[in-house]
Amino acid sequence: MPKQTLANLTSSDLAGKKVLVRVDFNVPQDATGAITDDTRIRAALPTIQHLTNAGAKVILTSHLGRPKGVTESLRLDPIATRLAELLGQPVVKCDDCIGDDVAAKVSNLGNGGVALLENVRFYPEEEKNDPEFARKLALVADMYVNDAFGTAHRAHASTEGVTKYLSPSVAGFLLDKELQYLSGAIDSPKRPLAAIVGGSKVSSKIGVIEALLGKVDKLLLGGGMIFTFYKARGLAVGKSLVEEDKLDLARSLEAMAKERGVQFLLPTDVVVADDFKPDANSQTVSINGIPDGWMGLDIGPDSVKVFQDALADCQTVIWNGPMGVFEFDKFAVGTEAIAHTLAGLTGKGAITIIGGGDSVAAVEKVGVAEQMSHISTGGGASLELLEGKVLPGIAALNDA
Ligand code: 3PG
Repeated sequence: MPKQTLANLTSSDLAGKKVLVRVDFNVPQDATGAITDDTRIRAALPTIQHLTNAGAKVILTSHLGRPKGVTESLRLDPIATRLAELLGQPVVKCDDCIGDDVAAKVSNLGNGGVALLENVRFYPEEEKNDPEFARKLALVADMYVNDAFGTAHRAHASTEGVTKYLSPSVAGFLLDKELQYLSGAIDSPKRPLAAIVGGSKVSSKIGVIEALLGKVDKLLLGGGMIFTFYKARGLAVGKSLVEEDKLDLARSLEAMAKERGVQFLLPTDVVVADDFKPDANSQTVSINGIPDGWMGLDIGPDSVKVFQDALADCQTVIWNGPMGVFEFDKFAVGTEAIAHTLAGLTGKGAITIIGGGDSVAAVEKVGVAEQMSHISTGGGASLELLEGKVLPGIAALNDA
């Protein structure tokens, strides 16, 4: 069911209104607390600036990390500082997310002002979706915008509970854009539609592979999970990672692909190493020739070629999960080649979507992030959406 978005509201709906905006400012930080990647903060700017330009009073709420109670290192002060720099205007940082002090600071905000509440997960009631806590969060606001796509798969007080106390509750521009790309790609794609799924374990991707097999024309698999598929086919895999309890599942996924007429592609060669180390000895072998005692850590050049050929005519490509251990430069070649291939396809008019998590890090490492049609800001959320699950933070918003 389509949801109301900020675009459905006029400036006069927003002027002077106190708008509680759930954002996902769960950004990576180094040991000193410095933000190492501000993508998620930048991604929320269109919504925040739309609201400030319309004269709304913007009250931002987010979590950071998974604190158990108040945790000094997980306060949102560095985020407030970064946000103020990006917005070019002051951001009033509150040291709590509910209560009198928050109410006082919010009532002092002028039209177009921005406040950032303290880490909402300092209260255990947040993750419990406690109704009374949700009501207290809502108290300071007139209406609600959810722009936290990365947290939309969590039914928490600030993503779901709060919508029961604020009306309207609408999607922000980032949330809407994520839905248009990710849901659009699987529900009404330009075809042929291909999905590339990588990562180390079949078990963490079962849901998404099953769901994609009902939607895609081609499914390309890479990453550590391929060795479970090889073993299921009876191939020797040396010391490669295998989930022994998923062999039957691997066989049934392959059978399902055949039944549904989906082109199911596994790599044809792999780069094997004698140890799980960045400087391990390595060699490229065919999948029929994995030596005893060696482990596969990347896809090989022939596989890259096979994948490139399969992708060449695709109009939509979704990618989730690296092709190998790309954290080690020596075993990043396959993942990098796929990143470049997708960048080239975007240039030829295809829609290329990077579905969160490690594959985002990979396209950034390769420096082709700008050349993708869409890079999701949600890891778990994008996976659940691709699995066809209902995301509670989205379901709770007003229907269009
Ligand atoms: C994420 O980084 O995936 C989101 O911010 C959600 O965080 P969580 O997994 O701690 O709920």
